[in-house]
Amino acid sequence: MPEIASEPLKFAYWVPNVSGGLVTSDIEQRTDWGHEYNRDLAVLAENSGFEYALSQVRYTASYGAAYQHESTGFSLALLLATQRLKVIAAVHPGLWHPGVLAKFIASADVISGGRAAVNVVSGWFKDEFTNLGEPWLEHDERYRRSEEFIRVLKELWTNDHAEFTGDFYRIHDFDIKPKPVGRPHPEIFQGGNSTAARKLAGRVSDWYFSNGKDFDGFSEQVEEVRGYAAANDHTVHFGLNGFVIARETESEAKAVLREIVEKANTEAVEGFRGAVKQAGSSTSDKKGMWADSEFKDLVQYNDGFRTGLIGTPEQIADRAIEYKKRGANLLLLGFLHYLEDVEHFGKHVLPVIREKEAALDRV
Ligand SMILES: Cc1cc2nc3c(=O)[nH]c(=O)nc-3n(C[C@H](O)[C@H](O)[C@H](O)COP(=O)(O)O)c2cc1C
Repeated sequence: MPEIASEPLKFAYWVPNVSGGLVTSDIEQRTDWGHEYNRDLAVLAENSGFEYALSQVRYTASYGAAYQHESTGFSLALLLATQRLKVIAAVHPGLWHPGVLAKFIASADVISGGRAAVNVVSGWFKDEFTNLGEPWLEHDERYRRSEEFIRVLKELWTNDHAEFTGDFYRIHDFDIKPKPVGRPHPEIFQGGNSTAARKLAGRVSDWYFSNGKDFDGFSEQVEEVRGYAAANDHTVHFGLNGFVIARETESEAKAVLREIVEKANTEAVEGFRGAVKQAGSSTSDKKGMWADSEFKDLVQYNDGFRTGLIGTPEQIADRAIEYKKRGANLLLLGFLHYLEDVEHFGKHVLPVIREKEAALDRV
């Protein structure tokens, strides 16, 4: 059993900056992808116990998401609207030059008093690259590029005379001023499930984001990634995705899940299932993300139902604590009706988690 983090479990929410919500379903979703709704949501979230928000990146209409706000600009808008919330912007190596991104995030970090972060996503959506005229690298090459990308970010954020020579990037005597204020630098998140993703986290990432997983699936990743990190004398923290449906009774919560899946937008889910074969399924060991996802799992883009945060507040809290025991430092959460559900989570679920956490510390 991995060591249990002494720090309280942290919470992040997926920013709904892409239309259609976090589930590809025609069930009613009282969530809006626009700026005003998201600004109110960010303020509510930081007052409801959320420490982080994660802005997604999707550049073009696809799979139920007809409209998308760009992740870095949108994240800055949320930083400006809040006081304490840290906002993580998802970014693609291959579409950003790391020097330009380092500069943007440094400014966002200074403006927000050290609350900017990035999620380096290595990509699954081939058309986003090829339709923009950019090359689509083979799976493990994308990760090799991501590693260089992260090393360049760190180099530029922490050195006055940045130098880097790699296969993808070459930086010479470059000085970014102002430097970011977050120490040692803005936090770097990175997700995946493939062996390449795990090794990358074990070498350079501050955080490893896991798609939704049951207990054993999550433990398996934590143990492997911790092993890689130990071999590299590196420390990595773990975030786990989950979709929350909290109701007074378990049967009510399960009925909502059933309705989400019954009303799934089949065409969009099947299209997504085809596109994500570019992720984990394209690796030799087939370990990567979505490689074993079923139709039902894919109705939530990131396998969030698998984490099972569906039931009464007490049941959800019990599972959150079990994930903490298995190595989770953070839960990344998605919701159906964001404003209502985030408020409910803060009022009715989080206090139960904190009580159980306190009891855990006393053991
Ligand atoms: C928590 C999390 C968030 C992600 N966010 C995005 C995103 O906003 N945009 C995107 O194109 N891919 C996103 N991805 C997917 C990654 O780009 C990548 O396709 C995936 O992690 C590859 O997994 P693999 O290494 O198992 O093949 C995300 C992945 C995780 C785990």
